Amino acid sequence: MGDQSKRNSFTGSIGFILSAAGSAVGLGNIWRFPYLAARNGGGLFLLIYILLALTFGYTLLTTEIAIGRRTRQSPLTAYRRVDRRMGWIGIFACVVPAIILPYYCAIGGWVLKYFLVFLTGHGTEAAADGYFSAFISGQTEPIVMAGIFLAVTALVIYRGVERGIEASSKVLMPLLLLLVIIIAVFSLTMKSDSAGEVRTGLQGLKILVIPDLSSLTLSGLFGVITEAMGQLFYSLSVAMGIMIAYGSYVSDDTDLGQSINCIEIFDTLIAFLAGVMIIPAVYVFSGIEGMSAGPSLMFITLPKLFASMGRVGSVIGCLFFAMVLFAALTSSVSIMEAVVSSFMDRFGMSRRRAFATETVIAAVAAVIVCLGYNVLYFNVTLPNGASAQILDIMDYVSNNILMPVVSIGTCILIGWMAGADTVISEVEKNGHVMGRKGLYRIMIRYVAPVLLSILLLKSLGIL
Ligand code: PFF
Repeated sequence: MGDQSKRNSFTGSIGFILSAAGSAVGLGNIWRFPYLAARNGGGLFLLIYILLALTFGYTLLTTEIAIGRRTRQSPLTAYRRVDRRMGWIGIFACVVPAIILPYYCAIGGWVLKYFLVFLTGHGTEAAADGYFSAFISGQTEPIVMAGIFLAVTALVIYRGVERGIEASSKVLMPLLLLLVIIIAVFSLTMKSDSAGEVRTGLQGLKILVIPDLSSLTLSGLFGVITEAMGQLFYSLSVAMGIMIAYGSYVSDDTDLGQSINCIEIFDTLIAFLAGVMIIPAVYVFSGIEGMSAGPSLMFITLPKLFASMGRVGSVIGCLFFAMVLFAALTSSVSIMEAVVSSFMDRFGMSRRRAFATETVIAAVAAVIVCLGYNVLYFNVTLPNGASAQILDIMDYVSNNILMPVVSIGTCILIGWMAGADTVISEVEKNGHVMGRKGLYRIMIRYVAPVLLSILLLKSLGIL
C-alpha cells in the first residue's frame, strides 16, 4: 500500500473543483450533448437532463468522491476498504479507464489534427467531402497525432496532482469557459439568407431551449429520459474510478457538498453553452435537417460550416478546436490518473513507474485503435444496433456494459451493505451540512440502481 503521509493532494477546493470539472467537461459535453439535445426535443431534453443531474447525477458523484476521501485510496483498492466482498468493483473501475484512455487519445489526436489544420490556415481543406475518412484511414498521421496527445497527457500525470493535474486545470478551464462564451455569442449573431428564407442564430437557440412536445408519445418520453440519463452518466466521469481517485486527494476540511454542486453546475453549464454554440450555427447553416448529423457533427459538419464563413471561419474554427482540445486533455488526464493511482496504491509503485507502465499500455492500445480504420479494419453490429470498429467496441464495452455494472455495484455497496451514512458522514465531516440527504438515501438504495439497470438492459438491446 502507498504511504499515506506522502499521498498527493489538491491545494484547496478551487484546485479540486477545477480538476474534477476538467474531468467531467470533455468531448461528451461539446460533441455529444448538443446533438442529443437537438434530436430529443430541445428544451424537454434540457429540462430532464437538469432534473436528473440534481438527483441521479448528484447521488453518483457524491458517492464516489466521498468513498475516495474516506478511504484515501484509488479505485482499485478503495471499494474493498469499504467492504471486502465488493473489492471486484475496484478491478472493473480500473479496467474501464484503461480501456477508455487509448481511444480517447485517438479521438484527441483527431481534434489536434483539426486544430493544426485550422491554425495553419488550411481549414477549407478540412471541409472537402471525404477529408475526415481519408484522414482516419491513413496509416501514420492518426497514430502520430494520438501519440502527441498521449505524450502531453502523460507529462501532466508525471508532474503529479498539484503541479500537473491541478496546475493545468487552473489554466485550461477558465480559458475553455472564455472560448465557449466567445463562440456561443458569435453563433447567436449569425444569419443566413438562402432563396429568400432568412435563418438567424436566435431562431436556432429556440430549438435548444423551447420544449418540442408536438410529437411526444409515452415511449418517446422514455427514450428521451434514457438518452438524458446515458449522457449524464457519460458526462460526469463517474463509474470509471476518476472521482474516487480525485476524492482521495481532497483535504478533510473541504466542503464536499458545495464542491460537488460547483462541479455539476460547471459541467451542465458548459454542455448548455456548447449547445448554444453549435445548434444555432448548424441551424443557420443547414436548417433543421443539419441537426441529425450525430457523431459526424464535429469532424464533418462543423468544418464545412467554418469554411462557409470565409476568413472569420478560420479564426472561429481554430478557437473551436483549441477549446475542444483543452476539454479533451483535462479529461484524458483524469482517465490516466485513475489507472496510475491504482498502480501506485495496489502495487506500491512510484508515480514514475506507474506512469511509465500505463503510458506504454495506452500507447500500444492506441496504435491498435488507429489501425482499426485501415489494416485492422472490420465492421460488426453491436447489440444496440450500431455498426462498430475497434474504437466503438471499446467504447461500447466500457460505457454501456462495464460502467453501469460498476455503478450498480457501488449503489449496492453503499445503499444496501455499508449504508448511506458512510457517505453522508463523510460529506458532513468537520461540521459541513449535506443538503438533499433524504433524497440521497432513497436514490442510492432504490432509484439509482433501478435507473442504472434500465440503462444496462437498454445497452444490451433487451429493452
Ligand atoms: N466526462 C468526460 C466527457 O464528457 O468527455 C470524460 C469521459 C467520460 C470520457 C466517459 C470518456 C468516457 F467514456
